Amino acid sequence: ISFTADRLLLFGATGDLAQRMLLPSLAALDVDELIHPDLEIIGTARSELDDQGFRNFAREALEKFLPADRRGSMATFLNRLTYQPVDASTLEGYEALARKVGEPKEGLAIFLSTAPSLFEPTIQGLKHGGLAGEKVRIGLEKPLGIDLGSSCVINDAVATAFPERRTYRIDHYLGKETVQNLLALRFANLMFEPLWNSTHIDHVQITVAETVGLEGRVGFYDEAGALRDMVQNHMLQLLALVAMEPPVSYDATAVRDEKVKVLRSLRKVTAAETVTGQYRAGAIKGEPVPGYDEELGRDSDTETFVAIKAHIDNWRWKGVPFYLRTGKRLPHRTTEIVVQFRCVPHSIFSGRGARSEPNRLVIGIQPEENISLSLMAKVPGLDREGIRLRAVPLDIAMPDAFAGPQRRIAYERLLLDLIEGDQTLFVRRDEVEAQWDWVDAIRASWEEQGQTPKTYTAGSWGPSAAIALAERDGVTWHE
Ligand code: BG6
Repeated sequence: ISFTADRLLLFGATGDLAQRMLLPSLAALDVDELIHPDLEIIGTARSELDDQGFRNFAREALEKFLPADRRGSMATFLNRLTYQPVDASTLEGYEALARKVGEPKEGLAIFLSTAPSLFEPTIQGLKHGGLAGEKVRIGLEKPLGIDLGSSCVINDAVATAFPERRTYRIDHYLGKETVQNLLALRFANLMFEPLWNSTHIDHVQITVAETVGLEGRVGFYDEAGALRDMVQNHMLQLLALVAMEPPVSYDATAVRDEKVKVLRSLRKVTAAETVTGQYRAGAIKGEPVPGYDEELGRDSDTETFVAIKAHIDNWRWKGVPFYLRTGKRLPHRTTEIVVQFRCVPHSIFSGRGARSEPNRLVIGIQPEENISLSLMAKVPGLDREGIRLRAVPLDIAMPDAFAGPQRRIAYERLLLDLIEGDQTLFVRRDEVEAQWDWVDAIRASWEEQGQTPKTYTAGSWGPSAAIALAERDGVTWHE
């Protein structure tokens, strides 16, 4: 059902995500005249604010989190905002909320940015208040459960009011420009696809490294850990985009059909193919930082780092390991994908300086958006002792290649897609379930083996066992 929503109802409107991302993104879209001119945004949360109180909250959020040159006057945007307090855990209050939302001319988009324990009662409330009809779609922010079982409970509850075609599950990595660029790189160029398989690719590495620690999210993070917080969603989505077959077109069904096939082809990994870690006090860029246990105020077995050797059991990828690693308090903030090609089958060059290294494609997702392909080239000279070769990078820095167009943060794109009704960059239920299925098996193997995280110093690249995990196969993590 296609409609552009002219009402947006935001649950969790006074929360951290709303403040840092959602309100600034909506304001930026507004300044650029990309949203429906009549869009009304109704905020709701438990806090007893009135319209003006919410506008003040929003103004502060914009001043803090939206760069001054993107803010515009803010008045038009703030005027779109109204607020209705609701205790999402009871049915009371939803009629008043429905009155506040009023009768949309075209349709209503709802965005749930609340604790997952509130999803089910909120859906009940929305049904009760008559806010779940054909002209209503719903966006769900992560985490969608903590395992397959709990995610099914949430998805079942949502499905009682919203069919899949009106359900939009966010994975904000899919809203990142560079992540979408992966598809352009793979499917708008001829030269990669013929080589994109086990005949020519030795292995793939996906790294999502963060320098931040707990960031105050003590309760949430300690329950989740790196595997559920980063691998289950963001990293598996990156893996699916790298590994999927060409979709027939760039639309929601075709793209998601191909991604889910990859996710279902993931082989269950054994505990021996994973390494977990937890940071201890150290230094990031010369600044001392406390250990996880100190930030938490107690001991914990939650992993803040995980490395996994994954396998995709299908024709294209049989025998090609995908090494994944992610962690908090690593030396740099870097998200990158490294595609390591195989060696040339036979070298015609001989001599000490003529060793040919395999080509390597590095796709930098953040903070720098770049694509770098290492090629072997001849070192200039007369080569009296034989030709000398060296790897040189063919580099594209995206900000230089596209200096003009505005770079948008993920939530700008995703909120706009939610308002306009494009599901391509949202995660379908079968994908989420395949992701949990794979991740749950890893956690079960840790439990079975009694595997607890090894310690690593903040500012290092994780426990040394993670280096060994790749080195056993003659692979070095890219840095
Ligand atoms: C979130 C995780 O989903 O992604 C956080 O819950 C993590 O722990 C964040 O820091 C990383 O997002 P980004 O866009 O900064 O890479």
